[in-house]
Amino acid sequence: MNLSSLKAYALEKKVPIITDATLRFLETMIQKHAIHDVLEIGTAMGYSALAMASFGCHVVTFERDEFMVDEAKRHVEWYDEHKRITLMPFDALTYQGELPMFDLIFIDAAKSQYQTLFNKYTPYLKKGGFVICDNLHFHHLNPDVVNRHTQGLLRKLKTFKSFLTEHPHFETTFFDEGDGISLSRRLDV
Ligand SMILES: C[S@@+](CC[C@H](N)C(=O)[O-])C[C@H]1O[C@@H](n2cnc3c(N)ncnc32)[C@H](O)[C@@H]1O
Repeated sequence: MNLSSLKAYALEKKVPIITDATLRFLETMIQKHAIHDVLEIGTAMGYSALAMASFGCHVVTFERDEFMVDEAKRHVEWYDEHKRITLMPFDALTYQGELPMFDLIFIDAAKSQYQTLFNKYTPYLKKGGFVICDNLHFHHLNPDVVNRHTQGLLRKLKTFKSFLTEHPHFETTFFDEGDGISLSRRLDV
């Protein structure tokens, strides 16, 4: 499987994908903690899902955008040689179906929804499991020089970081890698 050609394709199409630093972070976590089952929210073209599958994980991944779903389907058909990826063509916010339990939840979707998605999907996290959220720095934008919509997103991300820090059932560490990553471990073992 050629991840670098998929990365080049996504970048050419201006589709945001995880940085190399985030990819290395995921790989380290997956190997260190022998992560097997991953829930991803935000497939885009399938780059991060295929990367995690290449590290040996089974990945259930949600994508709500039809164009992205078609692209991801194609890439999964081409590159997911061990059939480790289950593409869920749904909005994760409104999805009502059943899900198995996961060792890791990777949230890389709409930034305004992180807290809602965290609350909705952490019941599917195994004891001692992890939640990783990407893009928490949101490009280090200065709230004084962006439009009101972006100011709202920055406020929501700030609130989400406090929510993680204060969560009684998770221990969270923030990393500067990539565009800012949070790593939360479920404490109720
Ligand atoms: C940053 S991209 C994901 C990149 C991907 N993880 C990668 O690195 O290859 C975010 C994607 O999340 C999708 N998305 C946003 N909110 C979502 C939701 N509530 N449910 C499903 N997909 C969502 C968007 O359509 C977009 O394709």
